[in-house]
Amino acid sequence: MTVLTKTRPARKTTAPSVPATMRAAAIERFGGPEMLQVVELPVPTLDPGEVLIAVHTAGVGSWDADMRAGWSPGGKPRFPMVLGTDGSGHIAAVGSRVRRFHSGDAVYAYSFDNPKGGFYAEYVAVAADKTAPVPEVLGMKEAGAIPTTGLTALQGIDQALHVKRAESVIILGASGGVGTLAVQFAKLRGARVLAIASGDDGVKLVRRLGADVAIDGHHEDILSTAREFAPDGIDAVLALAGGPALDQCMEALNRSGRLAYPNGVEPEPRKRRGLRVIPYDAVAGVTEFAQLNRAVTAAKLRVPIAAAYPLQDAAEAHRRLAERHVLGKIVLRVR
Ligand SMILES: NC(=O)c1ccc[n+]([C@@H]2O[C@H](COP(=O)([O-])OP(=O)(O)OC[C@H]3O[C@@H](n4cnc5c(N)ncnc54)[C@H](OP(=O)(O)O)[C@@H]3O)[C@@H](O)[C@H]2O)c1
Repeated sequence: MTVLTKTRPARKTTAPSVPATMRAAAIERFGGPEMLQVVELPVPTLDPGEVLIAVHTAGVGSWDADMRAGWSPGGKPRFPMVLGTDGSGHIAAVGSRVRRFHSGDAVYAYSFDNPKGGFYAEYVAVAADKTAPVPEVLGMKEAGAIPTTGLTALQGIDQALHVKRAESVIILGASGGVGTLAVQFAKLRGARVLAIASGDDGVKLVRRLGADVAIDGHHEDILSTAREFAPDGIDAVLALAGGPALDQCMEALNRSGRLAYPNGVEPEPRKRRGLRVIPYDAVAGVTEFAQLNRAVTAAKLRVPIAAAYPLQDAAEAHRRLAERHVLGKIVLRVR
């Protein structure tokens, strides 16, 4: 079920003393969801530029499942491996060079393939410049869901596509983690948005999030809807899914149209003569999080959470992810 309610963030808490060990959902070797087991591990130590976050909520993404199954982008894997690329929490300690954060601050952060361990844990050590204050309009659960998807959605709309007021934009995969946010950011920039969602429930969701027109991309005719939506052709496509639906979106673009997709979309969009195809990766840093915080606040961003599992049910969360048709995002409740 999609939940759009918010849990108010505690902006500051008194930082509890940091224990020596913590609970974490880790894998001892690559494999299926059952590899995820809750174990006791040492709390990570801090480098001078890092913060220690007492995790409240961890995001669960398809890239986590890829890493659990054997994808090792950082080279040789180290076990036990704690998964989790993003999340929210409160600062529990800061490294000797960190001035921007203090114990108890409510933050959210992004750290891809962190060698010290990810967010499926009670504590995570993250570079301070990949950490930001939780925007006032978000609860802790919602903040924990969006560092990766929020940066990806906003950078797709702004840096990759440079979406402008009154342009016609297709968001393909609009009811997923990145798509539900991209619809709102494209509307924030004043675009007309045609959302290609998944299922009747996905269509209803993206309409509620502000899409001007929404259809089910698994069952409806994308090309004819796009031609009706923009008779002179679509200006820009943000592709969060690939395959035949994407081919139809590309067909609908006008002569100066452009298509952007975050790396990982499969099958990878094929280049076509005369068409600008822009692959990109989400970038996290102080500037990027400041941009995200401004856009989240201006859009009064709504963050659909499809399901929230306790940390000990991380394997169940991965099983649900594998079933697909996730509307918005799956998260782990760590605290
Ligand atoms: N490189 C980076 O920095 C980066 C960062 C974030 C994400 N990504 C990539 O971006 C992609 C999207 O990520 P995400 O987290 O948003 O994934 P997601 O939540 O799975 O969203 C993809 C959505 O596309 C939908 N979809 C698939 N085919 C469709 C069709 N024909 N019509 C309508 N909807 C369709 C899926 O619905 P069903 O499951 O119901 O079909 C799903 O809701 C992934 O490939 C991910 O790897 C890359």
